[in-house]
Amino acid sequence: MKVLYICSELYPFLKTGGLADVSAGLPPALHALGCDVRLLLPAFPAFTENVQATRAVADLANAPAPWGKAPSLPAATVSLGTLPGVKCPAYLLDAPELFSRPGNPYLGPDGKDWSDNAQRFAALGWAGACLGQGLDPQWVPDVIHCNDWHAGLTPAYVHAFRATGCPTPATVFTIHNLAYQGLFSHHEFSQWGLPDEYFGIHGLEFFGHASFMKSALQFSDRITTVSPTYAREILTEPHGFGLDGLLRERTHVVSGILNGVDYQIWNPGTDPLLLQKYDVNRLAGKTTAKQALQNSMGLQSRPDALIFGVVSRLTEQKGLHLLPQVLADVVAMGGQVALLGEGDAWLVETFIEAAARYPGQVGVRIGYDEAAAHNVLAGSDVVLVPSAFEPCGLTQLYGLRYGTLPLVRRVGGLADTVVDCTPENRAAGTATGFVFDALTASDLRSAMHRAFNLFKTPEWKVIQRRGMRLQFDWIAAARHYGALYESAHRSLSLTRVAPKGD
Ligand code: ADP
Ligand code: GLC
Repeated sequence: MKVLYICSELYPFLKTGGLADVSAGLPPALHALGCDVRLLLPAFPAFTENVQATRAVADLANAPAPWGKAPSLPAATVSLGTLPGVKCPAYLLDAPELFSRPGNPYLGPDGKDWSDNAQRFAALGWAGACLGQGLDPQWVPDVIHCNDWHAGLTPAYVHAFRATGCPTPATVFTIHNLAYQGLFSHHEFSQWGLPDEYFGIHGLEFFGHASFMKSALQFSDRITTVSPTYAREILTEPHGFGLDGLLRERTHVVSGILNGVDYQIWNPGTDPLLLQKYDVNRLAGKTTAKQALQNSMGLQSRPDALIFGVVSRLTEQKGLHLLPQVLADVVAMGGQVALLGEGDAWLVETFIEAAARYPGQVGVRIGYDEAAAHNVLAGSDVVLVPSAFEPCGLTQLYGLRYGTLPLVRRVGGLADTVVDCTPENRAAGTATGFVFDALTASDLRSAMHRAFNLFKTPEWKVIQRRGMRLQFDWIAAARHYGALYESAHRSLSLTRVAPKGD
């Protein structure tokens, strides 16, 4: 099975969130299961500066669309190469005018979306669909796996090829976050080279705008998201961001596959970013990590202080607006907070103020820092993820492996991965963390109180070790994706051989 995996982030080269970790973790696991996977990436500097052994594949200007239109693009070519440490070969969509910009892949230096994002990611979608039509005659995919809105036009283009009678690959689309939809003015649509009828209620039209996400949900053969609970939640109005109706219509092709963890990167026993390694049988190194974190975050050096760690984008999604409301209690109970994050200005300001109000008890580091992320996860006792919604969430999984008990809200992937320390779960030997329900400071506070109480008991270490032994490996997820690819590919072949008019 040949699979083209389209993504716009890839750890360790370019990362704004969990998508980069997933793009680095899933393709090699599929490869290990015998799947022939290649990536398609926009040629951002982070990739072009590292790519090796490239071969020119094609000029996109030469790719015809049988319906007589094609996206209006500046010079764009596709090449094939390898990235150091990445098992799967990568196609790069090289369009310097669109992608040769340093920094964040979606936002300019002013923190606003690049004004030509529609054209940039339409080009990515088009390149994906053209590879499905044999742009590289040496390798034609059976399945195209698109990730997030950035790749959301590929399924529409593939559908348009199919509608003109061309054989096409099957398409699978993964929603990593339904909140980011790639919504553009309807005027932009004419630049994308899709047949006119693709703009409409049964096409990309979304309240008068043109939506990449809707394109993907409308035209993909299969839709997945990154946890079973989020797959159910997005069918409902509160979590559907206006697309729950369409998702309900397509519920027969929607499924949830839980993300995995790359334990070569996230393993305290081998983590090169930690001063002293530790594992489930040698927990002493975690005490060293705690001291190091207290030092680096300007926290009082107190081994008995319960540290709540946060490693997060600072956005509404993450529910972190609740944290300032409970800080007084945390400090009064002798706890500490270590927060690493960047994002919305008002949250940044709030946390900087909080650090000034509680010196030595609340440590805040604003910015994106991979080494600091590992050190916060290792040095804290609890990792806090109070999200309003969470498609999967990875930091709670990293926390589990690092002996840092997750304290999470019961939503999405958090609900699927953390077992609350209720008396029943503790007695049954399944508890791994703390789970609360309402997105309120009082629910968060009472979960924190439970953490303080348990921290004083020997049971803490039992629960810590239980979490450290859990496996959320990519191979398990890759098996599910493999089966899904097979089924999408099979249904497509069956449709193709069905006589016309059936
Ligand atoms: P999301 O993708 O919604 O941001 P996830 O939990 O899936 O949430 O993934 C977040 C990823 O980004 C994790 O690998 C986490 O360690 C990392 N991360 C988040 N914020 C920072 C930061 N400020 N510095 C370094 N890494 C961060
Ligand atoms: C998104 C989600 C997060 C998920 C990640 C990787 O950014 O917000 O919950 O873990 O994608 O799938």
